[in-house]
Amino acid sequence: MKAFKFGTVILAAMLLGGSGVSFAADKSEKADRGKKEYDGNCAICHGVAGKGDGPYREFISKIPDLTVLAKNNKGVFPINRVYEVVDGRQVLKAHGTRDMPIWGREYSIAAAELYRDVDYDQEAIVRARILSLIDYLYRIQAK
Ligand code: HEC
Repeated sequence: MKAFKFGTVILAAMLLGGSGVSFAADKSEKADRGKKEYDGNCAICHGVAGKGDGPYREFISKIPDLTVLAKNNKGVFPINRVYEVVDGRQVLKAHGTRDMPIWGREYSIAAAELYRDVDYDQEAIVRARILSLIDYLYRIQAK
């Protein structure tokens, strides 16, 4: 009797554990906002895997490898710097022109077009898109 109960517990744990894992995998596959954002806006220059080898490499010299941001910063992913570089509105004021689009401005314009007649928080939308990218970039860092 005791053995039977033990077996039931193991079986239940396996079923729950198994379903938990597959559920998590499904969910992340559908809702990987950061990857979607990256594939749609960044891969053309930085490459599908983030190595700086996208098709635009032909036209722009020195597109950085985004998988070594942590490695080049003593193993710490430089969240603040990446946020500011991607947003670009402050960086541009400080350093003049650059080859990368100003994503803070691009996303503001896209939001304004989408929510033309509705009351919305433009900065919140910009922030959410940049943070989803940061989450994705964090996950593709070279170990
Ligand atoms: C038109 C090509 C192009 C596109 C598209 C592009 N980038 Fe860049 N990116 C660059 C270049 C070139 C640099 C080097 C700095 C510069 O010249 O602007 C750079 C720099 C960066 C840096 C700083 C890297 C470092 O080592 O400091 C980050 C982070 C970055 N890009 C992220 C992104 C993200 C995220 C996207 C998509 C939202 C994106 N880039 C889209 C060309 C591009």
